[in-house]
Amino acid sequence: MPFVKVASLSDLPVDSVIEVTLGDNLYALCNDRGTIRALSGVCAHQGGPLGQGQIANGRLMCPWHAWEFDCRTGENCDDPGARVATFEVRLEGNEILLQVP
Ligand code: FES
Repeated sequence: MPFVKVASLSDLPVDSVIEVTLGDNLYALCNDRGTIRALSGVCAHQGGPLGQGQIANGRLMCPWHAWEFDCRTGENCDDPGARVATFEVRLEGNEILLQVP
């Protein structure tokens, strides 16, 4: 599966998240305490925009109803069965590349 450049490191300060759109798919690109991670940008609850949420202590919080997901695993912090997909990322210099299905 190909890696696609989606952002620069300078776009994503520590403990921030941005929304990335590739085709019809939304991704939440996270800087989790200095590690770049990518999750589905669609919340497992009611489809809220996770890429517009907030990050604290390794958890990405949905802006709609405050469900929290582990940035590393995509698991819901209260119900591990309610998870969102995670995706591989790669850094090339200052560029963030996302592996897309
Ligand atoms: S849609 Fe994300 S918490 Fe409800």
